[in-house]
Amino acid sequence: MVLIGASLYLDFLSKFGVSGAHPGGFELTKKIFENEMINKSSRILDVGCGTGQTSAYLAARYGSKVTGLDINPIMIKKAKNRMAKYQLPVEIIQGTIEKCPLKDSNYDFIISESVLSFVNKPKALKEIYRLLKDGGRFIANELTLNTRLWTNFEEEIKQFYGLDSLLFEKDWITLFELAGFKNIKTFKRKQSILQNHSIPEFQYSESIEPELYNVLHQHLNIMGKYQGTLDYRVFLCTK
Ligand SMILES: C[S@@+](CC[C@H](N)C(=O)[O-])C[C@H]1O[C@@H](n2cnc3c(N)ncnc32)[C@H](O)[C@@H]1O
Repeated sequence: MVLIGASLYLDFLSKFGVSGAHPGGFELTKKIFENEMINKSSRILDVGCGTGQTSAYLAARYGSKVTGLDINPIMIKKAKNRMAKYQLPVEIIQGTIEKCPLKDSNYDFIISESVLSFVNKPKALKEIYRLLKDGGRFIANELTLNTRLWTNFEEEIKQFYGLDSLLFEKDWITLFELAGFKNIKTFKRKQSILQNHSIPEFQYSESIEPELYNVLHQHLNIMGKYQGTLDYRVFLCTK
């Protein structure tokens, strides 16, 4: 079994090939880009692209030059299948955003949807800053705490998802500022993390370990149990 960052949850997402695996789902992704100055000459990097739903959408809807990056070989295969199926010229690369082989100042937009939470955040943000053009936009949709929980509850969440920390909005902003980002704006929809999700697509792997069948149920349980406290924010900033 491939355990990325010791997260059974990420393993589940890859084997089930879950798309739009971020708060607000694909509908929120589409909304976010309606307000951006994006066109066919835009170069976009989709960090932790998963099965490539966002990358494919940006290439198809705006004709932009899109690259999807993901650490997980199963996600990479499924993202490549998607691009082949829809004949989209999206480049899909396997690698880690903590240290990636892409060149400096190359992207107008970088998006990470529910990815930073799983990685070494300062390292990833340093790379994202390096990869963005001056004046480029970084957009992140990330799990965010509204209030502190008892330590054992926070441990339950961190352990299940394989996270090193649970951050408040202000903690995320501090990390973005330390990496050099400016004009940091945040927003969230009124709906909770569980509500108004688009229905995800699934692209199942041929063999799926039995223990992964329970992961969706555990994920929904955690989301329900901590609804109101466990939340998300969309962060929009500029280099
Ligand atoms: C919760 S999923 C979100 C996937 C996709 N962004 C979406 O919204 O459907 C997190 C993704 O981040 C990827 N990931 C985890 N650690 C990574 C790293 N260090 N570098 C690049 N991708 C990573 C995982 O493989 C997974 O595809």
